[in-house]
Amino acid sequence: MSDKVDLWALSDLATPWCLRVAVTLGVAEHLARGITKIDDLAREADCDAESLARVLRHLVGKGVFEEPAEGEFALNETARDLVDPGPVRGNLDLDGWGGRVAGVWSGLLSTVRTGRPSYQEVFGRPYWEDLDAEPGLAASYDAQMTNGGRNVPDPAALVGDDWADVRHVVDVGGGAGALLAETLRAHPHVRGTLVDLPRTVARSGEIFEAAGVSDRASVSGQSFFDPLPRGADVYLLTRLLLDWPDEEAAALLTRCAEAAAPHGRVVVDGGVSPGGAPPKGGLMVMMLTGGRTRNLDQFGALAAMAGLAVTASGNAPSGRYIVECRPA
Ligand SMILES: C[S@@+](CC[C@H](N)C(=O)[O-])C[C@H]1O[C@@H](n2cnc3c(N)ncnc32)[C@H](O)[C@@H]1O
Repeated sequence: MSDKVDLWALSDLATPWCLRVAVTLGVAEHLARGITKIDDLAREADCDAESLARVLRHLVGKGVFEEPAEGEFALNETARDLVDPGPVRGNLDLDGWGGRVAGVWSGLLSTVRTGRPSYQEVFGRPYWEDLDAEPGLAASYDAQMTNGGRNVPDPAALVGDDWADVRHVVDVGGGAGALLAETLRAHPHVRGTLVDLPRTVARSGEIFEAAGVSDRASVSGQSFFDPLPRGADVYLLTRLLLDWPDEEAAALLTRCAEAAAPHGRVVVDGGVSPGGAPPKGGLMVMMLTGGRTRNLDQFGALAAMAGLAVTASGNAPSGRYIVECRPA
């Protein structure tokens, strides 16, 4: 069998964009409510019927939606996944954070030419400033971090799963607290502190409440480049370090090292790959923020700059690769 790839199919942008447009216009939800005729769909979605029909027919050809009669559309099994808001939808909605992560690809060439993130060139402001400036976008981003992608969050993982001596966990850049909530639920003897930006920790109350851990959870709405709550046993950095170029990543690790000293651990989950082979992935953060994935050798060098020594690494039961460090 030939391993030659069809370059036309590989380079097609029509399907990814049609899918995003259908999701943004809520087509699956309208269909689920029984609105099936193209004129009615277009009225509900406040758009042009002819153009919408052309988009939907493209998707029907790709196996998303059906057109059982001319001008009348229906959900099929794949399209039904677009009805409930959730991981896929949040990533595809062009009116929210999904629009930023879709649009930033238009800056890939610029990033490759310059070695710098292209987000500002495409959207007019650096990534984090853009989230600061647009509350709706920040809310959509926080929701996506909580619900999106791989995230019905597993509890935090430690190498060797040795929680017996852990009393206090600080989840650094822990978003709205979903991972910390699961972690506290899994370990009833542990209390936790969520560190993230004020607008983000403000969303954690309901999440802690729903998990039944409010009495053991506290928050610190702050920048993680400022001094962190001191003296905890574990400082978690989950899917975080890869957001940042080396200088900022080293500064963040330094704050963790200072706060963890002398006995705490800094646990990095996400963005580090084992060994010394070139790390994969991280194209999106390359364009958004100039962040990067790192292999263990690169991470170890960064940790050393921050006054940390790698003391353990390995795969959690979930398969996630975890690296632990301690103040050197
Ligand atoms: C990729 S998300 C990871 C969230 C969480 N750890 C997870 O795995 O779902 C990065 C987080 O860093 C937070 N963040 C970004 N800049 C920050 C800063 N300067 N200080 C504190 N938090 C920050 C964001 O608000 C966001 O919640």
